[in-house]
Amino acid sequence: MADDPRLQLWHGRFAGGPAEALQQLNDSLPFDRRMYREDIVGSRAHVRMLCAVGLFTDSDRDAVLDALDQVESEMASDTFVTIASDEDIHTAVERRVTELAPAGARMHTGRSRNDQVATDLRLWTRGAIDDVIGLVVQFQRTLLAQAETAGDAYLPGYTHLQQAQPVTLAHHLLAHGWALARDIDRLRDARRRTDVSVLGAGALAGSSLPLDAAMVAADLGFAKVFDNSLDAVADRDFVLDTLYALAVLGVHLSRLGEELILWASTEFGFVDLDDSYSTGSSMMPQKKNPDIAELARGKAGRLIGHLTGLLTTVKGLPLTYNKDLQEDKEPLFDAVDTVRLTLLALDGMVASTTFRTDRMAAQASSPYAAATDLAEWLVERGTPFRDAHAIVGEKVRRALGGEASLVELVAGDDRLGAPAAALLEPGVSVTRRTTHGAGGPRSTAAELDRFRSRLAADGQ
Ligand code: ARG
Repeated sequence: MADDPRLQLWHGRFAGGPAEALQQLNDSLPFDRRMYREDIVGSRAHVRMLCAVGLFTDSDRDAVLDALDQVESEMASDTFVTIASDEDIHTAVERRVTELAPAGARMHTGRSRNDQVATDLRLWTRGAIDDVIGLVVQFQRTLLAQAETAGDAYLPGYTHLQQAQPVTLAHHLLAHGWALARDIDRLRDARRRTDVSVLGAGALAGSSLPLDAAMVAADLGFAKVFDNSLDAVADRDFVLDTLYALAVLGVHLSRLGEELILWASTEFGFVDLDDSYSTGSSMMPQKKNPDIAELARGKAGRLIGHLTGLLTTVKGLPLTYNKDLQEDKEPLFDAVDTVRLTLLALDGMVASTTFRTDRMAAQASSPYAAATDLAEWLVERGTPFRDAHAIVGEKVRRALGGEASLVELVAGDDRLGAPAAALLEPGVSVTRRTTHGAGGPRSTAAELDRFRSRLAADGQ
């Protein structure tokens, strides 16, 4: 009977084997195999603790640790042979360890797959968050490098996708950089709540055996130990927090992607995409398409879907573990993979993009973009802002109506005159935004310093 490959972990209680459909629906090994390292690391810590509290002999511990090493190398080299009863990574590892060392049969002492899977997933998520943060920092470095290269180049800033006021290109690029800095904050926040050891919670209620949860936590490098065994095995908010942080990050990448798409259009012509990060058309020979940016925009939908999907899965679950929770892993794994790849591709795309600062300056040099400067110029000379707004607004209306150019109308008004008309010269308006965090070159220089310091801190 022990040789029956369909024999389940819980075979003692059951008279027959599982139905084929049950097995297929139930099995998570195809996707949770990805956590084999975490599963093995968790088992090592558990076995060392069992030995320390007298539930394992030294030689049994060493035999199981050796077997775990072997399973790890079989998994790493893809030589691990699965059998039908390996329903998930936990059963597969334990089954193989027990084949290699009889003491493997003691390995599950005081442990359930419920606290085991939560531990594995916490370990995996902690590592994945660190990876993603590293990629975000790398992308921020690229944005910073492009901002530095841009010098004092400027472009129109937009509201409602209508030209508003000129800003430096560096300021615009760093706007995305700061959003990514907050993504790092959110990821760190999620990491802090992930960094809790739940091994020792058992199936749901702890154990009658003298387990040392704190020892396991320290061994696994977790910052904290769980407070409540029921919560420990039922909680997946750390996954939700991570999915939320990834979804917001994805939305930021989507917005950046959308700008690249606009900027690469013939109508804007603000960027030239490198061939290696663009695609062509199968029919139209002239086309060069910004597919990476479009995919960054498209992937955000998928990331939001993973978050709302898991929220929906978890919302009706009574305490504690329910098999529904097995649905936590695929969205998380996919969200991490999606964000990783999107970050890498966008990074290459932005690094290889040429910014057409001549086109940007030409668009930003419309005298209308300096209308606010005119109003503020009047304010500095005592006019209430509302009146100043009306004075300039009336000139804009007349200029647009074709009566005369805005420059002529401004120069011809004795409340304004030649000194005010000089503000409409190309390149003047952008230099006038000098306040904290503003879009002018002087403020941008200070902002670049702040961004460099933040990046240096995050990059450590
Ligand atoms: N594969 C399961 C999961 O991912 C492991 C936990 C199984 N626990 C149980 N009581 N059946 O959630």
